[in-house]
Amino acid sequence: MRGHGKRRIYSEEALNEIRARANIVEVISDYTSLKQAGNSYKGLCPFHNEKTPSFTVSMEKQLFYCFGCGAGGDIFNFVMKIEKIKFRDAVKMLAERVGVTLLESESPEAREARKKLGRLYDCMEAACRYYETVFAKNPNAAEARNYISQRGLSDDAVRCFRLGYALKSWDGILKTLIESGFSTEELLSAGLILPSKSGKGYYDRFRGRLMFPITDVAGRVIGFGGRVLDNSEPKYLNSPETALFQKGKIIYGLALARNAIRNKSRAVIVEGYTDTITCHQFGFENVVATLGTALTKSQAKAISRYTSQVIMAYDADTAGNAATLRGMEVLKNEGADVKIGVLPIGEDPDSVLRKQGKEAFTKILEDAKQLIDYKLHLIISQVDTSDLDQKVKAAKEVAQILAGVGSAVERGEYAEKTARLLKISVEAMLEDINSLISVQGSRKAGSRRFQVRDRFGVSRNTSFKDDIAKSCGSGTAQVLKAERLLLRIMIDNKEIFETVEKKLKWDEFSDKRHKKLARAIQTGLDVFSEDTGKNSLTPAEVISFIDDRETLEYAAGVFIGEGEELPENLKKAADDCINVILEHNLVGRIREIEKELMSLSGTGKMQKSRELLAEFGYLKKRISEEFRPFRGIL
Ligand code: GTP
Ligand code: MN
Repeated sequence: MRGHGKRRIYSEEALNEIRARANIVEVISDYTSLKQAGNSYKGLCPFHNEKTPSFTVSMEKQLFYCFGCGAGGDIFNFVMKIEKIKFRDAVKMLAERVGVTLLESESPEAREARKKLGRLYDCMEAACRYYETVFAKNPNAAEARNYISQRGLSDDAVRCFRLGYALKSWDGILKTLIESGFSTEELLSAGLILPSKSGKGYYDRFRGRLMFPITDVAGRVIGFGGRVLDNSEPKYLNSPETALFQKGKIIYGLALARNAIRNKSRAVIVEGYTDTITCHQFGFENVVATLGTALTKSQAKAISRYTSQVIMAYDADTAGNAATLRGMEVLKNEGADVKIGVLPIGEDPDSVLRKQGKEAFTKILEDAKQLIDYKLHLIISQVDTSDLDQKVKAAKEVAQILAGVGSAVERGEYAEKTARLLKISVEAMLEDINSLISVQGSRKAGSRRFQVRDRFGVSRNTSFKDDIAKSCGSGTAQVLKAERLLLRIMIDNKEIFETVEKKLKWDEFSDKRHKKLARAIQTGLDVFSEDTGKNSLTPAEVISFIDDRETLEYAAGVFIGEGEELPENLKKAADDCINVILEHNLVGRIREIEKELMSLSGTGKMQKSRELLAEFGYLKKRISEEFRPFRGIL
């Protein structure tokens, strides 16, 4: 969060430098395609579903605004919103992209900790390179190279996923990394070596294993999975939890898959390393893995940054089925729309692709099932329909599930389908379901809730156009329009700002967001004219002084101004706007007085009534003298 009240983490010069170098149109074009339209760019909004473009980006103003959903802001806000990250991380990400060095004010302890982490990253990267080189070149890695080619993994796949090999040696990584200048403490905290049982010395954790580096979303190596080349146990050995590597948080392959996930608006989650790599090799680049563990909330969150459409394609075995049902729940709670790709029994995505090819896996994804279908599938696929006991038991389980389906039509459809598969009568099935429903009673039936969310699981703001009608205050469309124009003029010229400041109190803006915006402009000008003697503000600068998100997004819309140019004579336009606002306030006050006078009549409060009448007369006079001639200009 940034704002004048809060400590500013980065200097405004650094932010401006980033703004200047990271062209907003170019950055946003990575996420949605933009076409030039007049002096701005238009495209389909990446924050809500739409068919006609209402998403506008102004290169000149360095702002974006969606006239459909009200999302808006500067380049930092855009990156925060689309990547779902904090301001600081958005700044870092953009700074890296354009090569601006950020000077952060940090405590000595924080600095020390950051340095240590940096060393750990370097250490993991050095280890990864070492294992890669061994795999590629070492004579003792021939076995590993054979294994890889037998499994059909391409050179490209090996390169992309940076596969490596740990020799059957006790000190391969130890020696190499010590020689490169890392300490044993660093290697220990990176989880690459272990203290020997005798208490003297250390040895390599990974020996005689094929190495699968695990990276964070940015592609930095944070851990390894090591697979044996034969059938010995454990099949996989993973890095221990370290300062970089937290098992419950990482998603294997996300760095390589994230763009494809976003482009296809869909992610496929599999269980294993080899499943992921084989999928990518066969062109399914939106595939990631949870590495045999149950999917966690933080993994679900990480995926839902990129899409809400998820297909789980776990191994078709008991463990895989259980993990699927649990994972689905977790993903749904993060607002994802989850389906299940059902594999042939005993297979995993890797084996399906190897044995049946690309088309078979494509079909599995296309036929991905909803939760209910999947649950029914799990029950039915295990039933021997010639065994009556099994059928009765399965029918009961099916009825239990279908009793929870809200729509009678849907229940009927499912009942028919499952009855056919179980070879039982539909009537009997429906009877079972209905008796369960009546037992559960109306208590539940009425309380089924359906959540409507957009594809990012975020509730939307009202649109800018709606704002005109439903403003945050008492303004009419005409006054709101005048207020918006005035705000645009105010940032353009400090001199005009100062005359406005004399004639208008910020509380006289009728929309509460306009009041905030006016204060932000004032703060911005105060700060900048002190620092740099600047005489005007860019819209992006003003926005950086707004604390609350709603006002910030709305402000982007104000400054983009629905494409309208500023009038030529700014001074005169500002005066006209002020008059419209003041008149609106005067008229408002007059209405109030009229009401009060009505309620006072007959109460005998003569003194109060006289005061109000005097004010009433004064206001009427002011209006006729000052404002009548200005009416209708805007
Ligand atoms: P391949 O047998 O090479 O095809 O690997 P796989 O990925 O298909 O393995 P499997 O289906 O047996 O397991 C799925 C995932 O669970 C693996 O990719 C690992 O991440 C994890 N896993 C499997 N076995 C072990 C193990 O023994 N230890 C640990 N820590 N993880 C394992
Ligand atoms: Mn496998």
